Amino acid sequence: MAQVTIHVLPRPYQARIENGLLARAGAILAEILPQASQVFAVTVPPVRRRWAAKLVRSLRSAGFKPQVVAMPDGEPAKKLATVEKLAGKLARLGADRKAVLIALGGGVVGDVTGLLASLYMRGVELVQIPTTVLAQVDASIGGKTAVNLAAGKNLLGTFYHPRVVLIDPAVLKTLPEREFRAGLYEALKCGIIGDVDLFLRFEQNRARILRRDPVELEYLIAQSVKLKAEVVSADEREEGLRRVLNLGHTIGHALEAETGYGSLLHGEAVAWGMVAATNIALRVGRTDSLTAGRIADAVLSLGRLPEVKVSARKVLARLQSDKKTQNGVVHFVLPREIGKVEIANDVPERVVVDAVEELRRLSRRD
Ligand SMILES: NC(=O)c1ccc[n+]([C@@H]2O[C@H](COP(=O)([O-])OP(=O)(O)OC[C@H]3O[C@@H](n4cnc5c(N)ncnc54)[C@H](O)[C@@H]3O)[C@@H](O)[C@H]2O)c1
Ligand SMILES: [Zn+2]
Repeated sequence: MAQVTIHVLPRPYQARIENGLLARAGAILAEILPQASQVFAVTVPPVRRRWAAKLVRSLRSAGFKPQVVAMPDGEPAKKLATVEKLAGKLARLGADRKAVLIALGGGVVGDVTGLLASLYMRGVELVQIPTTVLAQVDASIGGKTAVNLAAGKNLLGTFYHPRVVLIDPAVLKTLPEREFRAGLYEALKCGIIGDVDLFLRFEQNRARILRRDPVELEYLIAQSVKLKAEVVSADEREEGLRRVLNLGHTIGHALEAETGYGSLLHGEAVAWGMVAATNIALRVGRTDSLTAGRIADAVLSLGRLPEVKVSARKVLARLQSDKKTQNGVVHFVLPREIGKVEIANDVPERVVVDAVEELRRLSRRD
């Protein structure tokens, strides 16, 4: 089993990554949270159907009396009204200050349950059991919780770390193909940012990864979690270093927003964003053509990405009004070498527009 410590104050915690871990969740929680009086697993119907019984069995055999609390599936459920409804359910079920909330699901469940745990009775214990690639390599690590507002995504949230993150790559076998691949781009991102070996796995073992070979998945999830944990441990609140995790996200977010969050999954938008960032790095002389080619190939060989049909000018305008913009200057995370990135704030507008137009060309289906 891989164990990764996330060093945050006042209390560091661990992420454990192992195939089959879900069946041992009860025993682990009995060790970490022996005082837990009530345990509530928050989940969505598709995950409940496939994985809740296994978790409940494991909790029961460790002496807990777990209850499963369902919320609606999908990004539209990531809103304050869902948090309020869940809090009402918890109160009716008699949840007190010693309750433990388990988030069993993807990033939506993790974000909503995290926010709920930070608010219910001014804060109860939280355990993350992420069930998508995206949630396993990214959303469950780092303590960010949020819901969306009509005015924008993730505008209402807290920093609230779980007591432990239990990652079982075996649960990914029921994940829809497109969700699975979309999450892989975030893992590949970790390789490009700071883990050459992880990147090489994508180059060399791609077929096995796409077949969801459990050994490959365990490796790439563990390495991605390690990288995110290192960055978060050094920079919990995103002042500096944590920004490197935004590789592909500057343009990715703009593409998501410009397409109305309809045609691209987040990971797919990040994939296009990484291709664009690589193209920009090449054009402004921050990387060489060999490195740029390897990165673009690694991204594009994971599967066909949805077509990009947006106007490059509109993408640029969005970037300039994005919340991550400082004083009107857009910061880009640019790859230098495999495993090394840098932040640039001097990319000419023309270069950005050209890079987005290049995405349109690359993605055209003919
Ligand atoms: N907190 C953070 O730091 C952070 C970081 C990145 C993303 N996020 C958030 O995460 C969210 C996206 O998360 P996501 O991509 O996991 O989407 P998601 O939670 O909507 O899950 C995607 C779909 O997969 C289904 N599903 C989940 N696990 C499954 C399984 N094992 N088998 C079958 N189906 C399964 C879900 O029911 C859902 O329909 C966004 O809201 C994003 O803002 C948060
Ligand atoms: Zn992301």
